Amino acid sequence: MNLTINGREVALTSDRETPLLTALRDELGLVGTRFGCGQGLCGACHVNVDGTVLPSCQTPLWQVEDRSVTTVEGLSRDGAPHPVQQAILDHQAAQCGFCISGIVVRAAALLEEEPDADADRVAEALDGHLCRCGAQRRIVAAVLAARGEA
Ligand code: FES
Ligand code: FES
Repeated sequence: MNLTINGREVALTSDRETPLLTALRDELGLVGTRFGCGQGLCGACHVNVDGTVLPSCQTPLWQVEDRSVTTVEGLSRDGAPHPVQQAILDHQAAQCGFCISGIVVRAAALLEEEPDADADRVAEALDGHLCRCGAQRRIVAAVLAARGEA
């Protein structure tokens, strides 16, 4: 089945019921998207599908056929990190980093839609993304710093 991933058309051979997360990691080698809970509860596996951020662990391939998927790898521009990625680095916001891929995808989508999002709005948007390292304050600060550039 065919879909577009990070701007590139791909033809996947995985079964149509295969979770998008599994195909991304195992068939395409896009391991930036993480497997956390596998139940749609932690946010580690989130990707952007035609503007909607959703859990790839709970998304069978047939649901994204002929659609456009952006993973954390696809956010960079001309080889440079996305402003949210750069801000995460600048603020040393990640600790172990396991949660960060999904958070960056979510935050990038938020700033695309709401460039002036305030701290409360950023925190609300990231509420479904678990960070067991407790780096939430630094992550929110980093996302706020990326406003105007994202
Ligand atoms: S691994 Fe998909 S939401 Fe946790
Ligand atoms: S930085 Fe470790 S889970 Fe968030």
